[in-house]
Parts: sequence; C-alpha cells; structure tokens
Amino acid sequence: MNPAHLKIAPSILSADFARLGEEVRAVEKAGADWIHVDVMDGHFVPNLTIGPVVVECLRPLTKLPLDCHLMISRPEDWIESFAKAGANYITVHAEATSHLDRLLHQIKECGAKAGVSINPGTSLAMIEEVLDIVDLVLVMSVNPGFGGQKFIESTLSKVERLAEVRGKRKFLIEIDGGVKATNIGEMAKAGVDVFVAGSAIFAEKNYTRVISDMRTALKKAARESLL
Ligand code: DX5
Ligand code: ZN
Repeated sequence: MNPAHLKIAPSILSADFARLGEEVRAVEKAGADWIHVDVMDGHFVPNLTIGPVVVECLRPLTKLPLDCHLMISRPEDWIESFAKAGANYITVHAEATSHLDRLLHQIKECGAKAGVSINPGTSLAMIEEVLDIVDLVLVMSVNPGFGGQKFIESTLSKVERLAEVRGKRKFLIEIDGGVKATNIGEMAKAGVDVFVAGSAIFAEKNYTRVISDMRTALKKAARESLL
C-alpha cells in the first residue's frame, strides 16, 4: 500500500447546499483528492438530491475529479447528461439495472470512467462478471440514502475478498459510508484506494485538519502493513 496513491473524496451530501461552490473550493484547498457527488432519486433510495445541472455548475469551480455516485433507478437514462455535465467517474448500482455490462459500456462510450457499486446486503458475486471492464468498484459500507450513518463492519471482509480477486486488474476500490479518521486505517489495510467521507469532514469547522488527520492515519496503516 502506497499512501501517496490513496484518495480522499469528500461527499458534498453533507456540505452546506446554500454555499455549495464555496464548500467544494474549501475542501479542494483543504487537500481533498476527488469530489464525491451523491445523486439520489427518491426511488432507488429514500432521499432526493441533485442532478446533472448541479454537476455542470460545479465543473468550472474545481480541477478535482467529480466522482458521481448514481443511486437511481433507470441509470441508463442519465449517463449522457452526467458525462456532458463533466462527471469524471460515473458509478451505477448493480442492483439498479438488469443490463450491467451494457450500462458500463455506455458510461465508457460517453468518455467517463465506469464504476459499479453494491449495497451492504449484495454479494460480490453480482459484479464478478464485469470486473474486467470497470475502472472502479464502490463498496457501500452503509445502506445508501443518507449521510451520518454508522459504518457496517462486515463490509471490511467484502473489501478484503474483492482486493484478493482483483489480482492484476487495475480497478480502484472505493468505500462509502461511515468513514472517519479513526477507522480509515483499517479500511486501507483491507485494500481500499478511495475513501468517501461526508459528515466526518463537513461537520467539522476545520476541513484541513480532518483531511490531514485522515492522511496521518493512512500513513500509519501503510507503515503497520509493512511490519
Ligand atoms: C450515502 C452516500 C454517501 C454519504 C456518506 O448514501 O452515498 O456518500 O454521503 O456520508 P457519511 O460519510 O456521513 O457516512
Ligand atoms: Zn456516495
């Protein structure tokens, strides 16, 4: 594990939506690597958030990759709009489609990186057949829909198994839900590359301090994993 390659992706779901542009700039300045954008439709998950228009408005404000996590039904209807709006990564839920392979190709044809996500109750077997074509696998560590939920411990062993089957493939492993400076180290040891954190960052006044505490924990985990 090289801590310099690990990414911290603040989830703007917990940002102040009235000052969204400023919040994105603030986390970029504080040392974030990616911006995680949670898209919810009130159908696939019990909450409603933002659409491609917001992504389009944020695009010129930051150089960081926009990591769009689509928690929506019929994701195929929205891929092109999010790609055109400037999404770098578009992640869809395996549970939201019957045509996962087609959907992942659709994302790539639009010029974005293709991610697939699974809920805590979904087995890795559901995405086994697409591991050769994805750029990212997002392991949900809470049931999607809301920020500020408790990390579900059993998802760590799912990450470990995924890291093992990854072999020489290049996809990134991302975790989302309940990530904090106090548990990020064990996630890194399990094989996570990209850490989404919403409430742990935006609930604090000093974003720089939280992100740097997370980096310190990641460096410590990297040292320990060499022992
Ligand atoms: C949950 C979202 C997450 C959420 C994480 O459905 O996908 O990205 O914002 O929030 P925290 O870090 O507060 O668990
Ligand atoms: Zn998310």
